[in-house]
Amino acid sequence: MKICVTGGSGGAGGAVVEDLIARGVDVINIDLRKPGHGICPHIEADLLDYGAVRQAVEGADMIAHFAGNPQPDFNFADGAERFENNTLSCFNVFNAAADAGIKKIVWASSETVYGFPFENNVPLSVPCRESDGIRPQNAYAISKAASEFIAAEMHKLYGISFIGLRLSNVLYPVRDHHASYFLIPSYWNDPLSRKFNLWSYVDCRDVAKATWLALNAEIDGAEVFNIAARDTLMRIENEALLEMAFGEPVPQDFAFPRASFLDISKAERLLGFAPEHGWSDVIEV
Ligand SMILES: NC(=O)c1ccc[n+]([C@@H]2O[C@H](COP(=O)([O-])OP(=O)(O)OC[C@H]3O[C@@H](n4cnc5c(N)ncnc54)[C@H](O)[C@@H]3O)[C@@H](O)[C@H]2O)c1
Repeated sequence: MKICVTGGSGGAGGAVVEDLIARGVDVINIDLRKPGHGICPHIEADLLDYGAVRQAVEGADMIAHFAGNPQPDFNFADGAERFENNTLSCFNVFNAAADAGIKKIVWASSETVYGFPFENNVPLSVPCRESDGIRPQNAYAISKAASEFIAAEMHKLYGISFIGLRLSNVLYPVRDHHASYFLIPSYWNDPLSRKFNLWSYVDCRDVAKATWLALNAEIDGAEVFNIAARDTLMRIENEALLEMAFGEPVPQDFAFPRASFLDISKAERLLGFAPEHGWSDVIEV
């Protein structure tokens, strides 16, 4: 089995590449940048170039599409760049897969479709569930929502099975990373600093595990799944966080007081996803 991973030179895609290689899968990384690792062949390509994408995916059985700009935008110029890069990359990868006869794509959508940033936007209810509908608030989130739409339409056109992983903020169990677990204690004295994504996160190794499960899931359609750790990255309970952050009642239905604001029960039920890692394995309280 040959799997093309796009964005395998980056954080989440790199974790997926490592995991697939450890499972003995034949992997090709397609990315603008050379990877820090040399564990699989790399094709240097810009996913905005359809011809290059079509050539790169030839011969693959499945695609794990993780290339993209992961930074949400806070002004119109950044928004335009984000929308173009992330939406057109998805279109080109999905379209090339259709032409190459590839029938399975797992790709990185985002929790941001639910209403990130939550600074001026009160969630309708929590935890966020896939059945809730979406309220994207910026170009990054609109591009993920648009890509979910593209996947749904391309499924109808070409019968490709798409699994969009609505990833929470991806964290890494290492010190020298801008999204390191070791930054978490700095949020505890200022809970509002993480209000923007409702205090949720996911471990990069669990992203890789979810991707593997999704690649192997027998799901016919274009589905989306929340992928997050079980808990929040805060020590205080959700009720107190909500009161502090919104000052008005938000309907809540948590399985336990520090449960993630992203509900993962759909991924548990249909993919067999069970997050294995969390900040408390790494950070001493
Ligand atoms: N990091 C997060 O917290 C987070 C959360 C939700 C969703 N996501 C999504 O997950 C995916 C991966 O995010 P990440 O954090 O690993 O980002 P990253 O920046 O670490 O890696 C992304 C990789 O994609 C490549 N890339 C970007 N645009 C490209 C293009 N046009 N052609 C070829 N390669 C291109 C980059 O070179 C980079 O290596 C993105 O789609 C992102 O939107 C990330």
